[in-house]
Amino acid sequence: VSLRHLNTFGLDADARYFVNVQSVDELIAVLRDPEWKETPKFILGGGSNILLTKDIEALVIHPAMKGISIVEENEATVVLEVGAGEVWHDFVMHCVGKGYGGVENLSLIPGTVGAAPMQNIGAYGVEIKSVIESVEAVDIENGKKRIFNNSECEFGYRESVFKKALKHKYVITGATFKLSKKPILNAAYGDVQKTLQEMGAENPTIRDVSEAIMQIRRSKLPDPAEIGNAGSFFKNPEIPVAQFTRLRETFPEVPGYPVDAETVKVPAGWLIERAGWKGYREGEIGVHARQALVLVNYGGGTGAQIKALSEKIQESVAGKFGIRLNAEVNFI
Ligand code: EPU
Repeated sequence: VSLRHLNTFGLDADARYFVNVQSVDELIAVLRDPEWKETPKFILGGGSNILLTKDIEALVIHPAMKGISIVEENEATVVLEVGAGEVWHDFVMHCVGKGYGGVENLSLIPGTVGAAPMQNIGAYGVEIKSVIESVEAVDIENGKKRIFNNSECEFGYRESVFKKALKHKYVITGATFKLSKKPILNAAYGDVQKTLQEMGAENPTIRDVSEAIMQIRRSKLPDPAEIGNAGSFFKNPEIPVAQFTRLRETFPEVPGYPVDAETVKVPAGWLIERAGWKGYREGEIGVHARQALVLVNYGGGTGAQIKALSEKIQESVAGKFGIRLNAEVNFI
């Protein structure tokens, strides 16, 4: 089965076996089926954060559980349970439409609801960890359900327990979100403020914030439906303050955002651009011309080519700035 339409890079790799599961029961039945017991299993959600460098010799399971339902509601808040197979942006639009605040800054992020907690998706000052109550998952080994509360998810910057200690151990089947009916906007991010002003939104609503963020994203980030990509390819590196101070001596314009008293986050996009890669193209793959942190597949590129390019970028950035970039995207 070709996975070309199941990964936003649009890479053509095959799955040995493939199954779409529409419900938790269906998933459990597959996991417990003696016929599949010995077959390795691989969970593929929205495919928006993976780089397929080869065929997957496994049973690829695509969680497609749908549904958004209210589990709790009062004047101030609403708690929603959402199926893993819902498209993330459609869920955001649902919340914006209903006036539920908390996810509007995460508008237009590709992928599914089930994949979102995996790497604690974040954008424009908000991370999904601030609205997640719990994540529902099923143990791949024995088909048992487990609820992870927020702290058990061990969320960090583009990290969670599902990417670390429990990697490949659980299938996320749904998530529960606590949203606010009296939203507090998060519009401090420079670009967001500027765009809201340009829009003439004086007392912005969550819909305005969502609109502004969609505008910003459309202006910088390639639409995966047109040009294959997986958003930011690398994480923004965090370096010790002393190293940042030394870096500033050589590169006075290097941007940096304090993480805590000891650490500064440096935008990887800046480092990559300054190392000369922005807009670089090599056959069918390259570095996006408007956001150097995004690697792209123009059509016929392969995962192996993108991996090789990412390694060249890592070497070049390490050589010029002494900073090691780590991939955000998961290599298969
Ligand atoms: N910059 C450059 N050149 C570039 C790109 C960026 O110089 O080509 C510098 C600029 O100084 C800019 C700064 O980097 O001000 C920050 O750029 P931007 O606001 O575009 O954000 P980012 O740090 O590149 C991160 C997330 C994005 C998220 C945006 C907005 C990571 C790895 N990426 O990117 O998330 O949308 O902030 O919050 O943290 C993703 O994870 O896939 C993703 C797109």
